[in-house]
Amino acid sequence: MEQNQEQVANKKEHDEKLARLNDVIGEFKGQPGALIPVLHKAQQIYGYLPEEVQYHIAQGLGVPLADVYGVVTFYSHFTMIPRGEHNIAVCLGTACYVKGAGELMNKIGDELGIKVGEISKDRKFSLEAPRCIGACGMAPVLTINEEVYGRLNADQLGELLQKYKQ
Ligand code: FES
Repeated sequence: MEQNQEQVANKKEHDEKLARLNDVIGEFKGQPGALIPVLHKAQQIYGYLPEEVQYHIAQGLGVPLADVYGVVTFYSHFTMIPRGEHNIAVCLGTACYVKGAGELMNKIGDELGIKVGEISKDRKFSLEAPRCIGACGMAPVLTINEEVYGRLNADQLGELLQKYKQ
């Protein structure tokens, strides 16, 4: 019974998201350069761009699926991996690694109970490990959503994460 309710809720959520995506496609269809803004909005709706969403967009806009896939994989802004409400990216490039990024990563993973590429059960956090985000002078660096935090040590993490847990 409980499972049925969950299935109904999931289906409702799925239908609502699809309706919003269809509205976006309808709004941009036929306009030059429509693909990127549609992908951007689709990622806002779904949190990421799974294959079925890319396929739906390709069909809806009448563009080849390969073009959609090409754009999604070219721009680092787009992701095919689910992201949490707060996406944490701990840079594991060389400059950051030698300044303790590995320790930061371990501590965050323990604190949130997730590994790289995973999303927390409550969907609040996801964890990524990019290689150099171009801020080596501030090593070790991590980003949470659009915010960049540099010269961090493991002792500062608790307070930082607390801000995003609320
Ligand atoms: S290695 Fe981390 S920002 Fe460059």
